[in-house]
Parts: sequence; C-alpha cells; structure tokens
Amino acid sequence: MNTNSHKKELPKHIAIIMDGNGRWANERGLKRTVGHEEGAKTVREITKHCNSIGVKYLTLYAFSTENWSRPKLEIEFLMKLLEKYLKSELNIYLDNNVRFKAIGDISRFSKSLQEMIKKSEKATKNATGLTQVLALNYGSQDEILRAIKKLNEQHLEVTKQNFEKCLDTAGIPDVDLLIRTSGEVRLSNYLLWQNAYAEMFFVNTYWPEFTTNELDDIISDYQNRERRFGGI
Ligand code: IPE
Ligand code: IPE
Ligand code: MG
Repeated sequence: MNTNSHKKELPKHIAIIMDGNGRWANERGLKRTVGHEEGAKTVREITKHCNSIGVKYLTLYAFSTENWSRPKLEIEFLMKLLEKYLKSELNIYLDNNVRFKAIGDISRFSKSLQEMIKKSEKATKNATGLTQVLALNYGSQDEILRAIKKLNEQHLEVTKQNFEKCLDTAGIPDVDLLIRTSGEVRLSNYLLWQNAYAEMFFVNTYWPEFTTNELDDIISDYQNRERRFGGI
C-alpha cells in the first residue's frame, strides 16, 4: 500500500467487469464452466474484502443482455451457478451485514431464480455494511430505455434527478472506480450513465485469479489520482 493512501478517500462505489473466466479455464485445459465456478469463488473473496475495508457499494457484472448469444449449455450452467451461489451466500450476507441487490431485467430468468433473487434482497434489506449489487441480464442501454419508459409512464419532467430515480441503480451513488479484468479495454454496455466520472483500471489478470492484494494496489493507485470533475 502506498504510504499516503490512508489519508485519501476510499472509493464509495467500485464496479467490476469480471472478465476472463473462459480464457482462464481454456489455458489450463479445463472447460469454460470450471472458469465460471472459480470466478464465483473470487466474487466471494472480493465481496468479503470490500465489506471489511469499508467500501459501501460493489457492483459486479455477472450476466449481460448480450450474453444470451452464448451457447445454450453455457447459459444454462451460468443460471444454475447463479442460483447455487445465491443459496449458499444468503447466510454469509446476513452474518456479515451485507445487503444484496440485483440490477438488470430479471424477468427473463426462471421463476425459481427470480424468487431466489427477491428473497436475498428482502432478507438483507436492512444490512448497513457493503451493498453487493449483481448486474443480472443487465445492459446499460436496456436500463436507460426502461428508465425513459418509467419517466413517461409517471409523467415526470425530464431532469437528471428524476431520470436517476428511474434507473435500476436509483439511490446508489455513481461509480468511483471501475475495474475490468482479462485485458479487454471496453465497457461492454456496463453502467454507461453511472461511469460518467469513474476512474478506470484495465488489468490483464483473468477474473478467477484476481486477488484482494491486486484490488488493494488498484485502490491505492486510485487514491493517488487527481479527480478534477471538469475543474482545474
Ligand atoms: C466473464 O468471463 C463471465 C461472464 C461473462 C459470465 P467470460 O465468460 O467472458 O470469459 P472469457 O472472456 O471468454 O475468457
Ligand atoms: C462482459 O463480458 C459481461 C460480463 C462480465 C458479465 P463479456 O465477455 O460478455 O464482454 P465482451 O463480449 O468481451 O464485450
Ligand atoms: Mg469475456
């Protein structure tokens, strides 16, 4: 850790594009699905760590609106993994004062997965530690269009404040720190509005091997960046 990092503010909201599960597995002669399983373990570690250092929001890209174009078997595996993950995590959330929230259009998921998502949100709604936000069937363009529809339906004036209230991320501050693993340098339809002034870090590490140490180093670098927000 950098010596003066403790003087600087922690990012309130960290967003991560968890990428590289498939390549991590392929390079080891394993099936892509093994990469997703390993990736779920990283989710648990990184969530625990963010909660313990005092980060308030961690938003993780778990399934995009574009990921439906993957082979059916991989999608089925991801859906099962998600349900298994949520079932095993609920007690961990409760024990650690972690709030769970989903963003994205979950109506396309199976009834049982939708119920598990709602159950986790409800059971953890009073937690005051970290909020872990999972982006599930999430696409920023889809979210923006749904928000515009809501604005229209409620006959609300088009203002920044009203618009933000209609986004899935209503009540959550904008992203301070965006991280993408696996060496790809693009946003892939992730939080386009909310990343307006995020500090961005693109690292080569594949998600299954991303560690809390690497996260600490990134946070330290973040704290040494000068955020000007258009000023001087
Ligand atoms: C990210 O890893 C996880 C999901 C998109 C669900 P990928 O599955 O995209 O892994 P790569 O990019 O093919 O290596
Ligand atoms: C973005 O990763 C989506 C998630 C991490 C869930 P992808 O691997 O799907 O993105 P592209 O296809 O490389 O842009
Ligand atoms: Mg990928």
